[in-house]
Amino acid sequence: MKKLLFGIVVAFGIYACGGGGESSGGGATEQTQQTQQEAKATSSGEIEIKDTLAWVGPEGAPVKSVELGPLNQELAKKGAELFKLKCTACHKIDQRYIGPALKGVTKRRNPAWIMNQILDPAFMIEHDPITRELLAEYHTRMTFQNVTKDDARAILEYFRWIDEKGTEP
Ligand code: HEC
Repeated sequence: MKKLLFGIVVAFGIYACGGGGESSGGGATEQTQQTQQEAKATSSGEIEIKDTLAWVGPEGAPVKSVELGPLNQELAKKGAELFKLKCTACHKIDQRYIGPALKGVTKRRNPAWIMNQILDPAFMIEHDPITRELLAEYHTRMTFQNVTKDDARAILEYFRWIDEKGTEP
């Protein structure tokens, strides 16, 4: 996790130096500040999205990888039911609510990461840089909804269906 954050900061550092141009007289302090601001300003922007698609979660999270087959409508339907039952108190598909809108989540997050967020949100809030950033933005802690690994996999399939078909399964 530290590695990832470091990677992002370094990337921004290079970007800031390369694009900054004029700041050559400013000295090291000014440049560091500029780099930090740059990282903050774009912390939920493109560079993070690119990085987070590969990020499965920190050491100790329950799921390390997920095998995705072709879309499975039965599984997606099961996921849709679970989602309505257990998640809609805080989430909508299309709109920000108490938590983030979940449309497009499979385009911005790794499937294993999504399952980890569902299966152990408390662990993720504690250890995962993306979840911590979401917490800072939403000011609410997602809570475990008593789902099994199979349930989480079905919900993931539902999100895949939404993102690939653009409709309910
Ligand atoms: C108590 C409200 C609450 C409930 C219930 C809840 N969530 Fe969340 N969820 C949040 C909040 C707030 C965040 C962002 C910060 C965090 O993780 O605490 C979040 C984040 C997420 C994310 C990451 C979104 C992103 O943009 O990367 C996913 C995926 C997610 N939730 C799925 C679910 C699913 C699936 C369920 C049902 C099993 C669920 N949540 C139940 C509040 C909730």
